[in-house]
Amino acid sequence: MTDVMRTVYWDNGAVAMIDQTLIPDDVKILRFTNYVDVVNSIKVMQIRGAPAIGVAAALGMALAAQSIQADTYEDFMRKFELAAEEFRISRPTAVNLFWAVNRMMQIAASVPSLTDVRQRLLAEAIDIQEEDIAINKMIGENGAQLINQNDTILTHCNAGALAAAGYGTALGVIRAAHESGKSIKVIADETRPRLQGMRLTAWELVQEGIPVSVISDNMAAWAMSKGMVNCVIVGADRIAANGDTANKIGTLGVGILAKTYNIPFYVAAPVSTIDFALADGSGIPIEERSSDEVTHINGIRIAPEGVGIYNPSFDVTPAEYISGIITEQGVLYPPYAISIGCLKN
Ligand code: MRU
Repeated sequence: MTDVMRTVYWDNGAVAMIDQTLIPDDVKILRFTNYVDVVNSIKVMQIRGAPAIGVAAALGMALAAQSIQADTYEDFMRKFELAAEEFRISRPTAVNLFWAVNRMMQIAASVPSLTDVRQRLLAEAIDIQEEDIAINKMIGENGAQLINQNDTILTHCNAGALAAAGYGTALGVIRAAHESGKSIKVIADETRPRLQGMRLTAWELVQEGIPVSVISDNMAAWAMSKGMVNCVIVGADRIAANGDTANKIGTLGVGILAKTYNIPFYVAAPVSTIDFALADGSGIPIEERSSDEVTHINGIRIAPEGVGIYNPSFDVTPAEYISGIITEQGVLYPPYAISIGCLKN
């Protein structure tokens, strides 16, 4: 793997991204020249992970701006808002998507010139893409200080390079600790139903030469009870102002287990994942996805026909289970209403 694997990026008039539905079997780069295809790639999870979705939306909006035919700036803005709405409804939980769309809308509103607005939007989207990698490296540096020599770190889902423009958040911390010379091991929850831990996290860590063992989700309690886990680090899709954190379904269980076994439980996320407008986690919209994700594995049905299915894609871990939130501005500690309130956003 090169210094930083890029997951989603601007490529000479197109939005390019790794197709994450194919990993680990194939590493294929998709190249979209129509923004509608970028919207669809978010919906079908060719691109996924909160920061990566935000970057894809920003680049997709820049792509939309290039293709909008308009006679006046006002006409451009009307059409640009329609494209923005398509991105807003592509996935509901990761706030980075809305953060990126808002940032692009603010830029469009601040450049009231039909000749300049498209170029300015493209520059902003590329800034968002590049900033994301720089921010993840800062998260990595801040978090690596919490990792000790010979630690085994449990993670859930994939908060790696694939979940961002590159480098990753939770895996960014693990990468930074490894790069600083610490000998560490990772336990990756497989993360049913879509297996992001097994397919994506394990793939990334194997590439990096960081020792990783995959467990099925129901093994975490046993591993913790046996003293096999020194700390937990997960990513986040949306953090409320009091620290309550939405992340991949199953994270709540891991948080409760970590508290039971006195294991530090850290969330690693950029400040753009904090929803300052939400007082607590009860207002976070939780995506429910197709029942096929539960009834099938690799297209093969494993459940009886006619069975009922509930498939929430995220859960909310209350702040009381979280030992610290690792951001690019430093590690936040409870009470989060105060430490989050002090952030610059
Ligand atoms: O449904 P996904 O794969 O988009 O969910 C991803 C997660 O829950 C990640 O842990 C989260 O987005 C953090 S990524 C840095």
